[in-house]
Amino acid sequence: MERYTIPLKAFAKGSYSEYDCLLLITIAANDSFKTGCCSHFLKYVEEHIEFDKRAESEECLIVLPENGNQIRRLVHSPGGRIDRDFDDVRRFRDAAYRGVKRALAAGAVNILVAIPCLDKQFDTADYSLANLVTVLASFEAIYVPLEIREAFVEKAAKVNSISFCNYGKSEESSAAIMQNLALAIEAGRAVARDIGGSDPERMSPPKVAEYVRSIFSDSSVKVQVFDDASFIKQEFPCLAAVNRGSSQQHKARVILLTYEPSDGPIEKTLCLVGKGVCYDTGGHDIKAGGIMAGMHRDKCGAAAVAGFLQTVNLLKPKGIRVVGAMAMVRNSIGPDAYVADELITARSGVRLRIGNTDAEGRMAMVDVLCFLKEEAIKKKYENPHFFTIATLTGHACIAVGDNYSIIMDNGPARKKNISQLIQQAGDRVADPFEISSIKREDFEFNKGKSEYEDILQSNNLPSSRTPRGHQIPAAFLITVSGLDKYGLDSSNPLPYSHIDIAGSSGPFPGIPSGAPIPALTVSFLNIE
Ligand SMILES: *[C@@H]1O[C@H](CO)[C@@H](O)[C@H](O)[C@H]1NC(C)=O
Ligand SMILES: *[C@@H]1O[C@H](CO)[C@@H](O)[C@H](O)[C@H]1NC(C)=O
Ligand SMILES: [Zn+2]
Repeated sequence: MERYTIPLKAFAKGSYSEYDCLLLITIAANDSFKTGCCSHFLKYVEEHIEFDKRAESEECLIVLPENGNQIRRLVHSPGGRIDRDFDDVRRFRDAAYRGVKRALAAGAVNILVAIPCLDKQFDTADYSLANLVTVLASFEAIYVPLEIREAFVEKAAKVNSISFCNYGKSEESSAAIMQNLALAIEAGRAVARDIGGSDPERMSPPKVAEYVRSIFSDSSVKVQVFDDASFIKQEFPCLAAVNRGSSQQHKARVILLTYEPSDGPIEKTLCLVGKGVCYDTGGHDIKAGGIMAGMHRDKCGAAAVAGFLQTVNLLKPKGIRVVGAMAMVRNSIGPDAYVADELITARSGVRLRIGNTDAEGRMAMVDVLCFLKEEAIKKKYENPHFFTIATLTGHACIAVGDNYSIIMDNGPARKKNISQLIQQAGDRVADPFEISSIKREDFEFNKGKSEYEDILQSNNLPSSRTPRGHQIPAAFLITVSGLDKYGLDSSNPLPYSHIDIAGSSGPFPGIPSGAPIPALTVSFLNIE
């Protein structure tokens, strides 16, 4: 397995002769960039704009004159404005991403990115992580997919080196902190992209388990893989139902990843369950008519869980335990595959009637969530907070569009403002969230329709044509995992938040985003 190495060279400018491209990112109405290192190159940008107005708003390449310049290739990427109501830190993300892509297209392999520092006017909470966002977007632009790294050694990296100069207000020490943080987040996102983006054969459930073992060998994350079919059937009956239709080489794995700090008291515990559907044919409710392509990306929730554990592994935060569970399964068709109408008893004892085999994500996760809840209680985990992370519904995409995750809380999580905390963190790090709420109707919708069953697992319209289509599965996860017994009215309230990343997991064709790793990192890992 070819581990991904981020080709970071330095967080300080060396001699210009070390680079074959300088990327200048500028922000309109911000003068701070006009002094400090690299600012003397701005005159070339201004001169260029005199002849090409478009360069005010689009990235461009400028060939610098030879006279005394040690660097000849300059890419300018304008970020636009950041001072109006609906501007946000994604201006930095977009400018950096486009700028690095332009530099790559020009053939650059040793890139120096000049990060615009912010003057006081914009140094608000909204933009306090703008430099981090710029670095992360630059890294994102040079990531190389696992399958390419494995197939072509010579293509294992898009560049030889990338460097950043960060100056102005930023102190050396804060640059060092940012470097660690950026590397940890990007290493986590690379793991998420490797797992989430790879094809259904390269990342079948057993292969995902192998990959994860390799990534966390010799690390502070403990890996436990459940692969025994009869054990899975007994402990995770809903996941086992989805698993029934698949051949041996695609059989389910439940992977547990545990991080505990090496010393000091633990104050809180994050328990994350990720949907890892390595391929979703829909099952016998088959995705017909050309809507199946792309369904290897249905494992991006589990991929994000593994990625976040990698970020945690690199940052080694104190005071927090993180338990990740990856529910890896393939939703196939075949003589043994589960079908609509079956009655299945979940781990919690709740009886389900299958309504639609394409609603397999909630099936894959629900017993694993129930299991983690039991573990947390049994092992007396300090302040547990439960999450499910999943590319769960088409409704999430239609409701908020691409690029946004949706988060919704149960009662105890709502009381702690968890959605708001994560949304604010996401806004700062260009990993945006919309907040939804789970309501009484969402539970009523799932109620059994006859005395045979407690719960009907799904209706038969696409989620995108079902009102409240992204909240209803969250209600299912609460009821069927038994978390409904741990609400605000119980003696042991357990906070739980469901995150639907169907919109934000990234484009196909294209590269997975690694959402919501940056937002979770800023929310929970004491980065400041
Ligand atoms: C999502 O973000 C990407 C990268 O910034 C952008 O190219 C794309 O247009 C965005 N999609 C939508 C629907 O805004
Ligand atoms: C949650 O937010 C509300 C409204 O802003 C505030 O009154 C409350 O104190 C917050 N609760 C916690 C636990 O932060
Ligand atoms: Zn499905």
